[in-house]
Amino acid sequence: MAVTIRPITPEDEQRWRTHWAAYNDFYQRTDGITETITATTFSRFLDESSPVQCAVASTSSGSYEGGLVGFVTWYPHPSTDSVEDVVYLNDLFVDPDARNGDVGRKLIEYVYAEADKAGAGKVYWHTQFFNHRAQLLYTKVGKRTDFVMYTRQ
Ligand SMILES: CC(C)(COP(=O)(O)OP(=O)(O)OC[C@H]1O[C@@H](n2cnc3c(N)ncnc32)[C@H](O)[C@@H]1OP(=O)(O)O)[C@@H](O)C(=O)NCCC(=O)NCCS
Repeated sequence: MAVTIRPITPEDEQRWRTHWAAYNDFYQRTDGITETITATTFSRFLDESSPVQCAVASTSSGSYEGGLVGFVTWYPHPSTDSVEDVVYLNDLFVDPDARNGDVGRKLIEYVYAEADKAGAGKVYWHTQFFNHRAQLLYTKVGKRTDFVMYTRQ
């Protein structure tokens, strides 16, 4: 499957929403992600004053004719441990039918290239400790850290 990774465009909104809904299902957070959040998130991708960015994996082959098969989102932010911005990779999703074909890897590598272009030294992300499938990819493109994540109660 020939896949192109490119910035999201306004025309991608409906197809992106389909994948976004599946991603929220995956995280069992459908109820928490309101229409306002979804619309705000999409508008941020296209707003040059927002740091939040999105790239999509697009293919014209097979059953995905003209379709999207995945997306990744990220944003650069300042950090106290470097002069340069660092990049947080926020979301990553590949259509179940397109998995295990290097699409996830290409989406992460796209973020790496964008971070390099922006002069950001580091790209980091989180995953659930039991998401072994994602970690099969992450151990190939990154290295695991010792940090545990907490959130406010
Ligand atoms: C995690 C996810 C994005 C991975 O996408 P993907 O396109 O399937 O990943 P890739 O095909 O690029 O992964 C490629 C690597 O994973 C490895 N891999 C994949 N399946 C494997 C398996 N069953 N056994 C061993 N290795 C496996 C491959 O070896 C491959 O490395 P290689 O090219 O060096 O051989 C996708 O499964 C997904 O969307 N999952 C649901 C949402 C999710 O978990 N998102 C991440 C949240 S942190």
